[in-house]
Amino acid sequence: MGEEKAILRALRGERVDPPPVWLMRQAGRYLPEYRATRAKAGSFLDLCYTPDLAAEVTLQPIRRYGFDAAILFADILLVPQALGANLRFVEGEGPRLSPVTTAEAVAGLRPVETVHETLGPVYETVRILRRELPRETTLIGFAGAPWTVATYMVAGRGTPDQAPAREMMYRDPAAFDALMDRITEATAAYLIGQVRAGAEVVKIFDSWAGGLPGGWFERYAIAPVRRIIEAVRAEAPGIPVIGFPRGAGAGYRGFVAATGVEGCAIDASVDPAWAAEAVQPLACVQGNLDPLLMVLGGEALTRETRRIVEAFRGGPHIFNLGHGITPEADPDNVHRMLEAIRG
Ligand code: CP3
Repeated sequence: MGEEKAILRALRGERVDPPPVWLMRQAGRYLPEYRATRAKAGSFLDLCYTPDLAAEVTLQPIRRYGFDAAILFADILLVPQALGANLRFVEGEGPRLSPVTTAEAVAGLRPVETVHETLGPVYETVRILRRELPRETTLIGFAGAPWTVATYMVAGRGTPDQAPAREMMYRDPAAFDALMDRITEATAAYLIGQVRAGAEVVKIFDSWAGGLPGGWFERYAIAPVRRIIEAVRAEAPGIPVIGFPRGAGAGYRGFVAATGVEGCAIDASVDPAWAAEAVQPLACVQGNLDPLLMVLGGEALTRETRRIVEAFRGGPHIFNLGHGITPEADPDNVHRMLEAIRG
């Protein structure tokens, strides 16, 4: 039954023509209906923790565009919050958290068993969505990968180069490993909670994987993700996983081989011809249109969309952007992109 959904077929390794499509950050500020619901919720975090409203914004892009997948509306920083970091989103600036930079601070985090107390409303959002989504739409749950989550926890905010996390990794490896372990365990528990509530696929976002020095990629981008996948598979066999080690470059192939992900999201810096040869034989590829084209539109959008569809037509592919759609994107350009894919 579930096998009929196009996204699940692609993730089982089937070539689907035309490819199924959804967009990272498809529920977001480029949509007027999102901005209206967001204003009603008050703050971004209130939106994340109010199941009816979080489900509503998840459904908005499905109603408008008929995407093949819905992604649960939440944020990767809810896990640090559940572990006790004091999270706020400052309007126009981004997230702020209480920084964790020492072994004592790591030891002071909440135990993994307690994360479900904070994250319960997210599971409720998943349950609502499974009732309300169209039959053909796949529900994707997600979490941040431990390295990316750690970069925010250590710095207490977003950083352009992840220097605070890299510094802790070099300076106090034992404390940094303890932090990574805690995040890894909490993330596995969170994803299992989402799957039990009804998520059909899970995606692990390692947005800052490209900031890891190459010699540390195996230890901090591959090993923790593999542990999470093993834990999810033990509880929920058959749930496909999409990995996204953004910026991994030539490391994408080794990531897929070592983690066993069914799908791999690739960023726009990767040549689709290379990915078709090096990655697609091992997993379904997802991507990788430059998000700028959703602002620009026109002939360039149509041409580049078709180029990607063409490059990946020999194997399993889910069409998507190389990263999230931005607030400046024109909602009409999404229709142009769909037209170029679906004809
Ligand atoms: O539609 C979807 O993709 C689902 C929802 C989703 C959000 N964040 C909603 C959101 C998902 C999957 C994320 C993941 C996320 N969050 C990542 C990994 C993916 C990526 O983009 O690299 C990261 C690094 C975060 C952390 C985060 N959340 C930051 C740094 C910010 C502030 C920057 C910004 O864009 O404002 C957020 C806020 C956020 N998360 C918004 C949304 C829709 C915007 C908040 C608002 O409405 O004001």
